[in-house]
Amino acid sequence: MKTMPLSKRLNTVKQLIPKSCNVVADIGSDHAYLPCQICLENPDLKAIAGEVNDGPKQAAINHVNHWQLSDRIDVRLGDGLSVIDFGEVDCVTIAGMGGALITHILTEGISKLSGQETLILQPNIDTHLIRQFANDYGYHIEYENVLEEDGYYYDIIVLNHSESSVHYSDKEIYLGPLMLNQPNQAFYEKWLRVYKKQQLIVDEMHKAKEPNLDKIKRFQEELLWIEEALDL
Ligand SMILES: C[S@@+](CC[C@H](N)C(=O)[O-])C[C@H]1O[C@@H](n2cnc3c(N)ncnc32)[C@H](O)[C@@H]1O
Repeated sequence: MKTMPLSKRLNTVKQLIPKSCNVVADIGSDHAYLPCQICLENPDLKAIAGEVNDGPKQAAINHVNHWQLSDRIDVRLGDGLSVIDFGEVDCVTIAGMGGALITHILTEGISKLSGQETLILQPNIDTHLIRQFANDYGYHIEYENVLEEDGYYYDIIVLNHSESSVHYSDKEIYLGPLMLNQPNQAFYEKWLRVYKKQQLIVDEMHKAKEPNLDKIKRFQEELLWIEEALDL
């Protein structure tokens, strides 16, 4: 089998694609590394590589052609989920962006989602916005993980639409309900780093002429959640 190296981050996303999946849409695909790799590994799979920018779209086309996958991977130019039709895919991957952009793509494109799709999301920052999206749009968190690669910490989160109502607490939205139950080493390291940074910020905020007390209170509550989670 032909292969190409994927980052640990994208490799983890790849491994989370359900075996039953037939068509994957990778939104913000850039070079289409992920769709190419999954199609090379699974001859029955088809994919859509969505890109909003011309340069990455061309890079994706070149890569797809290089691996002779143009009959199975459709590279489409467009914003977010606008590139897919309703019910066309059974898995959506969105990786390597901030949580705000991922959430924006999901909410703007919500009419394209039937609720049958597995959403595999890998935000670089602001994962809480994705958990808030889950809360607001009736998705439950099937899986979440924190991994470290080259000194950076990445969150990966898998959402499925839920028939029953979903409610995550503010603490769960901030830290992750599944990670709170089963923290790993990367979770511990990531949040210790955040904790130390946020402590310094709160100290500085106290020194301001007119401290923003609401913000300080919110940061202190978050610090308390981290203390509880990490047993500090
Ligand atoms: C940092 S790259 C991530 C590439 C790849 N998904 C990964 O994880 O390595 C983000 C890509 O998303 C694309 N992008 C940003 N906003 C987008 C949107 N609204 N719709 C589709 N693609 C978008 C950018 O053009 C860029 O190629």
